[in-house]
Amino acid sequence: MKRFILAGALLTCAASVAALPPGPPPGPPPPYQMRPVAPAGDRTKPGGDGKTLFEVHCGYCHLAGGMGTNLLTKQRLMMGETPDKGLLANRTDLTTDYVKSVVRMGKGAMPGQTKVDVTDAELDAVAKYLGKAG
Ligand code: HEC
Repeated sequence: MKRFILAGALLTCAASVAALPPGPPPGPPPPYQMRPVAPAGDRTKPGGDGKTLFEVHCGYCHLAGGMGTNLLTKQRLMMGETPDKGLLANRTDLTTDYVKSVVRMGKGAMPGQTKVDVTDAELDAVAKYLGKAG
């Protein structure tokens, strides 16, 4: 009897695999999964490109589709802003000091980032890129 139940379960599994829709594989991964390659060289040297460093070190949460973007989009909508403001790169109200303090201390669901995650020199460049309010 047990053998029949097992065979039945296996057949059901096989049938559900075979029932997957045919067609091309799903499209490319969403932006937040496309982490760019970190620039080579000394990570403690100042003057790095803020946009690239932001995408490398913050992108897996803060590019489109990332969990940071999802949470911030909800917050921005509740404040009566448009959904594009969920992306930190689109914000004009962030200051460099605020960005640096959130990154080191964390905020709500965002874990604080250590100097190994993002060095002081990298954070300076990222904060300059995001800190459009000065
Ligand atoms: C593990 C995911 C994750 C990483 C990595 C991450 N963040 Fe965040 N970040 C979040 C989340 C989630 C929030 C929203 C926190 C909340 O309000 O609960 C957030 C919020 C912020 C805010 C606050 C925005 C506001 O409206 O107050 C700033 C600024 C920020 N992140 C900057 C950065 C920067 C710069 C980096 C990279 C150095 C980074 N974050 C890396 C998840 C992340």
